[in-house]
Amino acid sequence: MKVGFIGCGNLGSSLIKGILNAGALQAEEIVASDVSDEKLKELGKFGIETTTDNKKLVEHCDVIFIAVKPDIVESVLEETKEFSEGKLFVSVAAGVSTKFIEARTGARVIRVMPNICGLVGRMASCFSLGTRALREDGKLVEKLLAGMGTTFKVDEKLMNAVTGLSGSGPAYFYFIVQALQEAGVELGLSSEVALKLAAQTAKGAGEVILREGKTLEELIEMVCTPKGTTVEGLKVLEERKVADALRDAVKAAARRAKELSR
Ligand SMILES: NC(=O)c1ccc[n+]([C@@H]2O[C@H](COP(=O)([O-])OP(=O)(O)OC[C@H]3O[C@@H](n4cnc5c(N)ncnc54)[C@H](OP(=O)(O)O)[C@@H]3O)[C@@H](O)[C@H]2O)c1
Repeated sequence: MKVGFIGCGNLGSSLIKGILNAGALQAEEIVASDVSDEKLKELGKFGIETTTDNKKLVEHCDVIFIAVKPDIVESVLEETKEFSEGKLFVSVAAGVSTKFIEARTGARVIRVMPNICGLVGRMASCFSLGTRALREDGKLVEKLLAGMGTTFKVDEKLMNAVTGLSGSGPAYFYFIVQALQEAGVELGLSSEVALKLAAQTAKGAGEVILREGKTLEELIEMVCTPKGTTVEGLKVLEERKVADALRDAVKAAARRAKELSR
């Protein structure tokens, strides 16, 4: 099986690296295409075939990930249409529906909302099957995504919610870690130590949620000694309505995904 990637920017390259790291595909099974020679040169170091010819890629691959910006998708579909029949297109483009792609190609289509954490095998993603996609197409994509983290099959109408939560989500955590780092520095820690403490705490807290099987209330309680330090910190978060802000952030991103939808 040959798997192609059209668009090797932030997301496309993280998918390729994530899939290789997970051992879900061998380098010789992957072909990458981009307009940028520099990005291709970087990926070529992993031993994968590279090209700037999207048509050739679609002609020679069985499964094609489309990882260009949403506004470029239509031109890529147009360009490669003659070779799309019988192929499986897996689009990661935010807001681009399976229907949009099906109407412009002869391909079977699966839509995925990944995030960039696939780079380190910790991706959270969801996927939806288009009307022509086969059960085994779903199984194949699920296997590739699951190798890079956690994936769920969802109804396509929920993709905007997924985009707002986990697609955009890494940026929310980077933003929070940045604030924690700044606080650490203001309290006298070096920038490097403060960053590592904050990032490791985010990582560890996430792993505990996923592994311990406790509710979030139980976990919060585990950290909060009565009259101790954490309750003082949480009091500030509550007073400043940080939970409301985070809920609104996810909804704003989901709303934007809906606005951009085609
Ligand atoms: N970034 C994320 O965290 C994230 C998360 C979920 C979903 N997504 C989705 O992933 C897709 C890619 O996002 P991104 O952040 O990776 O964007 P990006 O970094 O801009 O990557 C897109 C790549 O495609 C290249 N490209 C442009 N036109 C092309 C063409 N005709 N043929 C082949 N390659 C072409 C771009 O080159 P130039 O830069 O030279 O134009 C760039 O290298 C988007 O649709 C986005 O909605 C991204």
